[in-house]
Amino acid sequence: MKILVVGGGGREHAIIRKLLESPKAEKVYCAPGNGGISCDAECVDIKVMDIDGMVAFAKENDIGLAFVAPDGPLAAGMVDAMEAAGIPAFGPRANAAVIESSKVFSKNLMKKYGIPTAGYEVFSSPEAALTFIREQGKYPAVVKADGLALGKGVIIAQDYAEAEHAVRSIMEDKIFGDSGNQVVVEEFLTGPEVSVLAFTDGKCIKPMVSSKDHKRALDGDQGLNTGGMGTISPNPYYDDAMAAECMEKIFLPTVEAMNREGRPFQGCLYFGLMLTPDGPKVIEYNSRFGDPETQVVLPRLKTDFVDVLMAVVEGRLADQPVEWSEEAAACVVMASGGYPGSYPKGIEITGLDDGGQVPGVTVYHAGTVKKDGKFYTAGGRVLGVTALGNTLDEALKKAYSGVEKIHFDGAHWRRDIGK
Ligand code: AMP
Ligand code: GLY
Repeated sequence: MKILVVGGGGREHAIIRKLLESPKAEKVYCAPGNGGISCDAECVDIKVMDIDGMVAFAKENDIGLAFVAPDGPLAAGMVDAMEAAGIPAFGPRANAAVIESSKVFSKNLMKKYGIPTAGYEVFSSPEAALTFIREQGKYPAVVKADGLALGKGVIIAQDYAEAEHAVRSIMEDKIFGDSGNQVVVEEFLTGPEVSVLAFTDGKCIKPMVSSKDHKRALDGDQGLNTGGMGTISPNPYYDDAMAAECMEKIFLPTVEAMNREGRPFQGCLYFGLMLTPDGPKVIEYNSRFGDPETQVVLPRLKTDFVDVLMAVVEGRLADQPVEWSEEAAACVVMASGGYPGSYPKGIEITGLDDGGQVPGVTVYHAGTVKKDGKFYTAGGRVLGVTALGNTLDEALKKAYSGVEKIHFDGAHWRRDIGK
């Protein structure tokens, strides 16, 4: 089978590496891909939001499976367009991808179906939101833009001044564009966070092994929120009893709720959970694989990935075994100096071999280009250095020993992933 992966970050590199382990993956394309991905798959220069271009390429090249990885094209209907052209596609249709692309939708869904989440109110005007925050007088106050915002649409305001700045910059200055037409103001929750990605064909749901992201830029969870600075799997806070409780109270009810709404979800459903003193609650849904969660979850998948994906696409997931290794995995993200603020590009990376790798670890490329046999930085998150081990400690030691062998000017990474 010929497979097209849409996207070009570390998540897509991890997806491609796992696809290539399958004897069924005859040829893998990636659009647009990146420098590291180009060592493993044929990169095609089509932008992720170019739905017509992507469908035309898939038709011309006899693609048997289109894997749409990022949120943008999912929300814009790329899976619908592929299906309309007769190309099997992995990922939710636009009417189901809304579970991520509208926080107002997802919060209302959870309220309607009794799925545990933070208490909230929705506002369409800044004055109404600010009046509510003032009257509540409870801080931190959590302010969220309704729509997609590159993971930056959540502001935890410590006092009224911060809340006002958040509401006005989202709703008046439109820093996230139309994503800020509405805001959700919600209750501040506490507890360990867990990411659970799950395969679902809309009938059956099979959670993958758990993971933990590290979203803040600096050690000790200091600094700004980022797309994710590192991950571990499994998540030590998530045991079998918690998994059973989440299945009963969150996972199955969510699949059922989407069906009742006439929006069956097929693909990877991502549950961002907080294990609060009152039990597990949903912080957010994503309609896709997480980045960098995928980098620690997929290396642990033992079953043929193509088989699992096709079972989801064809609605046969209940009959498809999905098995995981007992090993632990760790991923340390090496980022450009300045990230998540502005950062330079085009800086040479040394220490990688011709395939973009170093011995003993797997280097998933997130933001790189390859020119004349050399790799250069091309994004905020540059590399995800990943290792498996018999224990989490072993996986972390290996990953960090990989990091030490790689250099680019300004590189920064957290020293406390998994600590
Ligand atoms: P999100 O982009 O929705 O994942 O939110 C980013 C981060 O903000 C989450 O990973 C949490 O750490 C934090 N967060 C979001 N909502 C809440 C909440 N209601 N209470 C406490 N922290 C939150
Ligand atoms: N790592 C969080 C996300 O993919 O949204």
